[in-house]
Amino acid sequence: MDLNKLDINKLIKKALEAKERAYVPYSKFKVGAALLTEDGELFTGCNIEVSSYSPTLCAERTAIFKAISEGHKKIKAIAVVGDSDFTYPCGVCRQVMREFGKDATIIVANSEEDYRIYKLEELLPHSFGPEDLESNKE
Ligand code: THU
Repeated sequence: MDLNKLDINKLIKKALEAKERAYVPYSKFKVGAALLTEDGELFTGCNIEVSSYSPTLCAERTAIFKAISEGHKKIKAIAVVGDSDFTYPCGVCRQVMREFGKDATIIVANSEEDYRIYKLEELLPHSFGPEDLESNKE
């Protein structure tokens, strides 16, 4: 199943909706994410901030952890929208994407019409991942 324009537009639309649910009393910077799993399920996430700051969770990881905890471990595509002009996923989120979506498509969008498409490999080249640990097993 390839990613088509309908999937891309739907993911961006869902990410924009999720962004409005961001809980960001400290940064006031809203981010939304929507992902499609390999088995065709859609999950959304927003960033959630906490007054002691470090427990803050990015929108992408909220969406990914929702998918994993519901039993969907393979990410096919994820769209990210934020309050800046093309909000790119942070380094930590890229590593989490690597864990569950080595070949995932990343859509960085301003709107349904204005978006950029990447493969995870472009955003996190020469990455470390689960396979590295495999070579260390007895
Ligand atoms: N943020 C995300 O949700 N995703 C990113 O990839 C970048 C940063 C959030 C975290 C925090 O709530 C706010 O944006 C400002 O850093």
